[in-house]
Amino acid sequence: MTSRRAFIAGALSAPVLMRLGGLAFAAPLPRLGDLAKQKGLFFGAAITSEQVTAADGYAALLADQCGAYVAEWESKWGAIEWVRGHREYDSVDTIVAAAKSGGKMLRGHTLLWHFQLPPWADDAVLGSSGAWDELVAPFIFETAKRYAGDIAQWDVVNEVIEPEWQEPDGLRVTPFLAMRGRGYIADAFHLAAAAAPDARLYINEYDLCYAEDDQEKRRAAMLALLERLIADGVPVHGLGLQTHLKIGRTFDASRYRAFLDDVAGLGLDLAITELDVGEGPDPKGDTATRDRRNADEVRKVLEVAFEQKRLTGIVTWSLGDAVSYTRVSGESPDNRGLPFDEFLAPTAMHATLADLFAQADQRSAASS
Ligand code: XIL
Repeated sequence: MTSRRAFIAGALSAPVLMRLGGLAFAAPLPRLGDLAKQKGLFFGAAITSEQVTAADGYAALLADQCGAYVAEWESKWGAIEWVRGHREYDSVDTIVAAAKSGGKMLRGHTLLWHFQLPPWADDAVLGSSGAWDELVAPFIFETAKRYAGDIAQWDVVNEVIEPEWQEPDGLRVTPFLAMRGRGYIADAFHLAAAAAPDARLYINEYDLCYAEDDQEKRRAAMLALLERLIADGVPVHGLGLQTHLKIGRTFDASRYRAFLDDVAGLGLDLAITELDVGEGPDPKGDTATRDRRNADEVRKVLEVAFEQKRLTGIVTWSLGDAVSYTRVSGESPDNRGLPFDEFLAPTAMHATLADLFAQADQRSAASS
């Protein structure tokens, strides 16, 4: 048995029913979280407190396949401080408890994002003097502090660049930029570092992997921002690459590799933080064709990311298609963009991820 097959065999889960052309047979299924962990990486998925505590097949699959969890939406400002001045952490506490009882690593998402704001945090409130010190900073600090020692990696800020808007540094215009100037990113990192000194602190961003000019501009803006933050002594430790892949986009491995080399060259860790594949509104072909296409899209992009020694792990944005953001948001109602379909059957992407972990070089687990 080749070493790769032996490696995967070592992480086999209990036999699970798989469907193949209507035939059901028991076959072992590699546990992605175990495969990743054996190489000093993590594999996990975005979850909700309900999903991870339900007594159903999806909860069992999450526990079986994931070595890491991240709250899909419940640890965002709008979900926690629904009522101004009152921060409710029960749902996140549930997720943290499930992770701790299951021996899972935790990513935190996200301390500062211009979406999913509290309902009362409108432009007038966020534009008022003192908004940062009285509203934003307390949420960042209290949330990071509450989970200090539990959440290993925090997405301190999310989606902060938008070069199309011609702002200095290619920054996205958000209420936080307006209230604080471009220093708001550094301020958020310093607050998080003070609150959770052992957490690894990340910037999380989308659309950084494809060859189109707009993504080339995004990569340049992100690199310049990271260079500036590091030069200013900001405690940024990693870049989260959301990696919402899209069928039909142009990929140039050399451009992506050069970008990752530059980021890692700054001494920063990397994580694939929201992996899924968007097929678009009318995907062509039968299920097998679609699954193969989506798995190949993952392989061609992630093969380049896996070359990076500073890669710490992979998170998919949900584990199963039935609850995927791509479907629920209406972007692609029957999207097949995750390692498991709506019937909890593994897709070709599961085998591709298992193979990528099997081929991965050994990392030191400490960087996670
Ligand atoms: C999405 C969640 O999947 C939804 O459940 C929520 O309603 C909105 O946010 N990029 C991000 C994530 O960084 O936080 C978003 O998650 C998906 C896009």
